[in-house]
Amino acid sequence: MSNLSSNPIGLFDSGIGGFSIFTTLKKIIPREKIIYVLDNKYAPYGYLTKSKLKERSIEIINFLISKKSKTIIIACNTVTTNLINFLRNKYSLPIIGVEPGVVPASLKTKTGIVGVLATRLTISSYLFKKTSKNIIKNVRIISKEGKNLIEIIENDKIEKNSTLKVLKSLINPMIKENADVLVLGCTHYTFLVNQIKKIIKNKMTIIDTSEAIAIQTKKILNNERLVSNSKENNSNLFFYTGKPIKSKILINEKLRKIKI
Ligand code: DGL
Repeated sequence: MSNLSSNPIGLFDSGIGGFSIFTTLKKIIPREKIIYVLDNKYAPYGYLTKSKLKERSIEIINFLISKKSKTIIIACNTVTTNLINFLRNKYSLPIIGVEPGVVPASLKTKTGIVGVLATRLTISSYLFKKTSKNIIKNVRIISKEGKNLIEIIENDKIEKNSTLKVLKSLINPMIKENADVLVLGCTHYTFLVNQIKKIIKNKMTIIDTSEAIAIQTKKILNNERLVSNSKENNSNLFFYTGKPIKSKILINEKLRKIKI
């Protein structure tokens, strides 16, 4: 075991989306301490310029490193698909990212048509385009930008009828085209699953990559000899950068403001 093993894992996203990854990590590696930055000052990331996203990701990762993070989890598809290679080259510590699960989706589809919901910047990224192109031949990807979805989730509007309407406008055209798999290409969208299920019924299977990220993190910590042997499991820290976050999703967590 290395002497860094008792250090925390640093995790970030533009907001609540990362909490879906956080929750899965806590199930799979409960003893690891996690420092989570919700960068709500710059949310939604999906509408930043790529250079602003880069600048911001560096600022947040530097903060997480200053808090002694032993590894970084980018709990955000938008940052991963646009910057993962750049960030891995820049930093020497392990960096784990999350990207839309188009590969598992392409293995699952029977109709050969896969729907993807993701942010604008994810859909336009080179990595997303490349992965979508390289998947099994004869699989067609229908990608839709989840416009307004971040705002809906961050502001506790998930259960509203108007949200169901927005989701229908995105998903029904996919069903019409015979898509039978739906990839959640943004960590925020996990919180929409109950609403999404009302629309897709048994017509589509949902692919969410948060569990795969937690399993991958466990593997990397093992390989790098960074597994924590701490007995405590509730010493996580949550930081936000913008206005106070009032969402009920985080009701049990203590959030601290940071100025970066
Ligand atoms: N949760 C993020 C993602 O997975 C960011 C969404 C956003 O802020 O636009 O892409």
